[in-house]
Amino acid sequence: GLKKKEVNVLCLGLDNSGKTTIINQLKPANRSNHLGPLSEEWKHVSQAQAQDIVPTIGFNIEKFKCSSMSFTVFDMSGQSRYRNLWEHYYKEGHAIIFVIDSGDKLRMVVAKEELDTLLNHQDIRSRKMPVLLFANKMDLRDAMSSVKVSQMLCLENIKDKPWHICASNAIKGEGLQEGLDWLHEQIA
Ligand code: GTP
Ligand code: MG
Repeated sequence: GLKKKEVNVLCLGLDNSGKTTIINQLKPANRSNHLGPLSEEWKHVSQAQAQDIVPTIGFNIEKFKCSSMSFTVFDMSGQSRYRNLWEHYYKEGHAIIFVIDSGDKLRMVVAKEELDTLLNHQDIRSRKMPVLLFANKMDLRDAMSSVKVSQMLCLENIKDKPWHICASNAIKGEGLQEGLDWLHEQIA
C-alpha cells in the first residue's frame, strides 16, 4: 500500500507550558473525535489523566499515525537545564509546535527569547517549516488572549515561515484540533 508520509514534529516551549499535556491529547487513543465524542464519564477520566502529567526529563519521543501521516513527536523538556538539547533535533524536524503558558506574564519575555533563538538558529533559519503556536492555558482567569500573546512574541516579524497561533486548553483538549488541522494543511 501507500507509505504514510513521515513527519517529525519538534514540540518546544518553556517548562510548565503544557507540551506533554498537548501531545498526550493528540495521541489517537485520547482524541475525542477518534471514535465519536467521549461520554461525560470518560471526559472526567481523561481530564484526570491530563492533570497527572509530570515534568519531562530530557525528552520523550512519541509516535502516532494520523490520516495519511506518520508522526514522530519530539517532546522536549522546557526546563532551562535541558533547553540546550533542543538544537540537536532541529535538522530532523519538519514542523515546530511551540507552546506558551498564556497565564505566565512574568516569563513571556523568556518565552520570546527562546522562540527568537530557535527561529534564528542556523538549522531552522531560512527553512520553510511551519510553526504552530499554542497560547495554552486559556482557561486561567488572567490568561492573555492569543492576539495579546502574538503581540508580546512579535509574531508578525516571522516572514520566512508559515505560522499560526491557536488558543488552547490542553487539559480539556480545546483548540488543539484547529491547530492540528492547520499543520496538516501545511505539510500535506
Ligand atoms: P516540561 O516537560 O517541564 O517542559 O513541561 P510541559 O510543557 O510538558 O508541561 P506539562 O504538560 O507537564 O504541563 C505543566 C502543568 O500545566 C501540568 O500541571 C498540567 O496539568 C498543566 N496544564 C497543561 N495545560 C493546561 C491548560 O490548558 N490549562 C491549565 N489550567 N493547566 C494546564
Ligand atoms: Mg513535558
